[in-house]
Amino acid sequence: MNSVLIINGPNLGRLGSREPEIYGSMSLADIESMLRAQAPADLTLRFEQTDDEATLMGFIHEAVDAGMGVIINPAAFTHYSYAIRDACAMVTSAGLPLIEVHLSNPHSREEFRHRSVVSGVATGVILGFGADSYRLALTQMMTLLGR
Ligand code: DQA
Repeated sequence: MNSVLIINGPNLGRLGSREPEIYGSMSLADIESMLRAQAPADLTLRFEQTDDEATLMGFIHEAVDAGMGVIINPAAFTHYSYAIRDACAMVTSAGLPLIEVHLSNPHSREEFRHRSVVSGVATGVILGFGADSYRLALTQMMTLLGR
């Protein structure tokens, strides 16, 4: 397995200007550049963002079909989308790694953010480290891929 799909859910396209006191000042393009600089040349990274649940599920299905590892920030879908959870379950039940990431620590925020319906089917979860959550997720993904 030599490719990783990094999927970002709703409102994450606004990073940089969206509540910077919570999510930091890096844009999603900055995070993508950081990850591309981190990845070895022979590891293919695909980076996607959508505000649309069906499109997001389509990305997850593509990862299953292509045998890719997945790093996903499902954003608000984390807390209530059983459809996204079911799609993520297909990844891990196919034996592919899936890491759930969050910039903020949802457990230190409003009550509705304390529950993730995705975590139970993820390989692991990284949260609360700002943009570094993605960097840590990619580091761990490389370990899971035997690199
Ligand atoms: C988030 C946390 C979610 O609660 C929120 O809806 C987001 C971003 C994070 O990365 O901290 O959109 O997933």
